[in-house]
Parts: sequence; C-alpha cells; structure tokens
Amino acid sequence: MASEKHILLIGAGELGTAFLPHLSELPDTHVIVGVRTPSKYSQLAGPNISLTSLDTTGPSDELAQNFAKYDVVISATGFGQAAGIVTKLAKEILEAGKLRKQAGQGKLWFFPWQWGVDYDITGDGQGLMPLFGEQKDVRDLLRAEAAGAYVKWTVMSTGIFMSFLFEQFWGIVDRQGDNITVRALRDWDHKVTVTDVQDIGKILSRVVAEDMEAENRVIYSAGDTVSYAQLADIVERVTGKAVVREEWTIQHLEKELAKEPDNLIKKYRLVFARDGVWWDKKLTVNHKLGVPVTDVETYAKGLFGA
Ligand SMILES: NC(=O)c1ccc[n+]([C@@H]2O[C@H](COP(=O)([O-])OP(=O)(O)OC[C@H]3O[C@@H](n4cnc5c(N)ncnc54)[C@H](OP(=O)(O)O)[C@@H]3O)[C@@H](O)[C@H]2O)c1
Repeated sequence: MASEKHILLIGAGELGTAFLPHLSELPDTHVIVGVRTPSKYSQLAGPNISLTSLDTTGPSDELAQNFAKYDVVISATGFGQAAGIVTKLAKEILEAGKLRKQAGQGKLWFFPWQWGVDYDITGDGQGLMPLFGEQKDVRDLLRAEAAGAYVKWTVMSTGIFMSFLFEQFWGIVDRQGDNITVRALRDWDHKVTVTDVQDIGKILSRVVAEDMEAENRVIYSAGDTVSYAQLADIVERVTGKAVVREEWTIQHLEKELAKEPDNLIKKYRLVFARDGVWWDKKLTVNHKLGVPVTDVETYAKGLFGA
C-alpha cells in the first residue's frame, strides 16, 4: 500500500474550505487544516481531515520544524496578511525542506498564496501594490533557492475569483434595482481571467494527484477568459435586459485614484486595467488535464437565477 500523504492546508476561509473537499478525496491522503483557532472550524474535521493550531506570525524556527512534518504545504491564508508574512512563510518552507533532507524524507511540495493574477507581469503595480511586489519576490526567492533547499514549488495563477467579478463593491457588474451597468477596465477589448474557487480546488487536487509537470513552475488556471464586451453581452443574454455600458479608461481610473489615493479597490482597478490579469484558456492546466470548469455565462445564470 502507498504510504499516506500528509497535506497541510493553511487557512480555512473562502479558498481553504473550497479546497478541502477536493483534497480530502485524494486516495491515501490526510489533510491537516492549520488555523489560529481550530475550535472555530471543528465542523470541518472528518475521517481523513484534522485540525491543528497554527499561526503564520509565530516564531520561524518552530514553524519550519512543524512544516517539515508534511509532504505538501498549501497556503490559503487570505490576502489580508501583514507585510513580510508571505516571504517569512517561503523562507520557513525552504528551511523545512532542509530538515526533511537531513531526515531522509522526500522533498517538501509548496503551493504559496499566489491564487490570483500573474505577479511576474504586474510586479508591484507600478508602486501601487506592495503586496503584489512581495508575491513577485517570493517567486524569485523560490526560483533561486528551492532546488538547494530540497523544496519543489508550484505557483497557480487563477486570475480573479469568479465571485469577485460580480461583487457589487468591485463595480464592474453594478446592479441598482432593475438597472445593470457593466463597466470595462481600460477598454471593451481588454480581458480578464476568472476561476471559480471550487474549480481552483478541483484543479489543485488533480495537480497534486498526478504529480504532473508542475515542479518549480508557474501554472495557470481559467474558468474563463472574457473581454469586458463579452462580459456585458453575457449579462444581457442571461438577464434578458439591456445593460448600460461604461468604459473606465486608464486615465479615468488614475483620476479617480488621485481623489482617494488610499482606496484599495481603486488601486486594484487601475492595476487590473493594465497587464497580467488574463491568459488564454488553452494554455491552462485545466485545459491540458481536461478538468471541467464553470464558465462566466454558467456562473452568471446561477447568480441571476436564469
Ligand atoms: N484572486 C482573487 O480574486 C482574490 C485575491 C485576493 C483576495 N480575494 C478575496 O479575498 C477574500 C479572501 O478569501 P481567502 O480564502 O483567501 O481568505 P479568508 O476567507 O479571509 O480566509 C483566511 C483564512 O486564513 C486563516 N488565517 C488568517 N491569518 C492566519 C494566520 N496568521 N495563521 C494561520 N491562519 C490564518 C483564517 O483563519 P482564522 O482567522 O480563524 O485564524 C481563515 O481561515 C475572498 O473574499 C476573495 O474574494 C480574491
């Protein structure tokens, strides 16, 4: 019998809870969910799911020793981490890999928190998004040091979560009573890649199961890649109503941000109007593996009850 694989899933929020059912279905696998307050999440425990108390802000030497106990570490701690925490985690993982090597165990497989845009392209969003810049630094650190540290890493770029595209506060599909406005970031031909969080979990578990060509690489997922014009057409088809179309050019987004320079959503919009937020679905790992995923039209039908 194959020996059991131990997966540490850090975080059980929107993303972690979406990953859990898919990871726990893998054969010969035990998933350990690491959160600050396990008692808050006791309903998640199951035959091959347990909870452990873990705080990523804790002392590095203790965390490295803890991480060395696992075959796979997946970070789903959310985006609201303090500056420096994603780098600290990557360094602890590199240390944990060395400990595993000394103990004669297999390489540690690490999925950092990079479930979003392509940080190699966005960089720090021309100074607007220090955390995006730190994500790029984490990639560079892993590229430079993982091999010697006995760690393999996989970054999965997922684009925006599908739910996020339709959030009212995001302002792209803006519902006011019976009226809907769809707004384009940059122009109507500009595109955006989105993946539903459940699908991210499904794709991730296939990648982990098949140990396919994901070693030390950035891989991409996409439930869909649509232009803003296509998004407006989809909303019209699904709701059966004409939508108001409004273009938010880069110049407009810059002016809006200048009025409120600390507004995070305005920063996101401007960065997303630039580059690194879309890729061709044919290049994605879900396309290569034939994983069925939800596209924007199907998601919108569910959302609008069509
Ligand atoms: N690609 C995208 O579209 C994108 C990118 C970024 C963010 N978002 C949005 O941001 C939201 C975040 O979702 P998410 O699942 O990433 O995060 P989340 O729902 O905020 O969950 C974060 C999880 O991490 C745990 N956690 C937080 N700090 C921790 C620490 N120091 N040590 C250990 N565990 C810790 C939390 O548990 P405790 O607090 O109980 O410990 C919680 O279980 C979503 O609404 C999403 O739409 C989207």
